[in-house]
Amino acid sequence: MSQIFITGANGEIGHALIRKLAADGASIVALDLHPLDHDLAGLCAEAYRGDIRDTDVLSEIGRHHRFSAIFHMASLLSSRGESNPELAHEVNVNGSFNIMNLARQQSTLRGDPVKLIFTSSIAVYGLYANDDREHPVKEREFLTPRTMYGINKLYVEQMGRYFSRFYLGKPGEVPIDFRCLRFPGLISSATLPSGGTTDYGPEMLHAAARGESYQCFVKASTRLPFMVMDDAVDSLVKLHRVPRTQLKHQIYNVTGFSVRADEILALIEQSFPGADIQFEPVSERQEIVDSWPEYVDDSPARRDWGWQPKFDFARAFAEILVPRVKARYSS
Ligand code: SER
Repeated sequence: MSQIFITGANGEIGHALIRKLAADGASIVALDLHPLDHDLAGLCAEAYRGDIRDTDVLSEIGRHHRFSAIFHMASLLSSRGESNPELAHEVNVNGSFNIMNLARQQSTLRGDPVKLIFTSSIAVYGLYANDDREHPVKEREFLTPRTMYGINKLYVEQMGRYFSRFYLGKPGEVPIDFRCLRFPGLISSATLPSGGTTDYGPEMLHAAARGESYQCFVKASTRLPFMVMDDAVDSLVKLHRVPRTQLKHQIYNVTGFSVRADEILALIEQSFPGADIQFEPVSERQEIVDSWPEYVDDSPARRDWGWQPKFDFARAFAEILVPRVKARYSS
């Protein structure tokens, strides 16, 4: 039976994606550096603990399973990558190369392309002093990332295009089916990110719900694109299902809403009137967000495969995020 392989399974997207795929009846094989949360492990056919840099673990996984799709999400995020660029490169590039090799082997064993679905990021964009950050950025613009993480993501995108379209391969080798989404900042009620630079969005919300004070590390006027986790998972599942012939591109922007940090705070204060959140920008992190676009253009995804976020800013907080974090921290 062909299965779905998920790397970074215990991470933020992994949590939500496993629940969704399991509800749809998929047989899931999970890999994460850390033990999979108990409730998630019960939803997977098998959970491996290991590092995507470890080719022995990947060979063992490849020997025991046949995959129709791989969701590759294991990654070191942008702020963490700046404090250890060497490790970021090893995990984000070398680890991804290993996952690509696994997808290539599995494609050939099955005699059918394995879908390799890669989560990329707005971090592939790099806007500088005179660039117009209010202009919704298209997939082929401003590909001059300033962080190691952004550079790594951009390289892996290109590696995916290469192994799916240009590499000639050995006789009999079946190319992979590479598909990629560039996500904005993600906000989940169930999990918190770690080591990213869009983390201030979810961190403000969770701190307010826990009654804790929080120092937001970017300026109040900082505007970035965000998306609620439910929509992020929907976009992944949709991209997974769409027939290859319908896809005009391999790399797509997706987004939910673009908001300023003080607009997020204003909405949080409506639901948590005593919220104690101050803006104390940290220059290294501010410089990273200042290089990212304020808006992204996701019209190719909307046109080619019917992408449409369900939640705008107000609905995301009113219908999903606030009620769920309230329930989570009151129990
Ligand atoms: N959320 C990621 C980060 O902040 C960007 O994709 O690193």
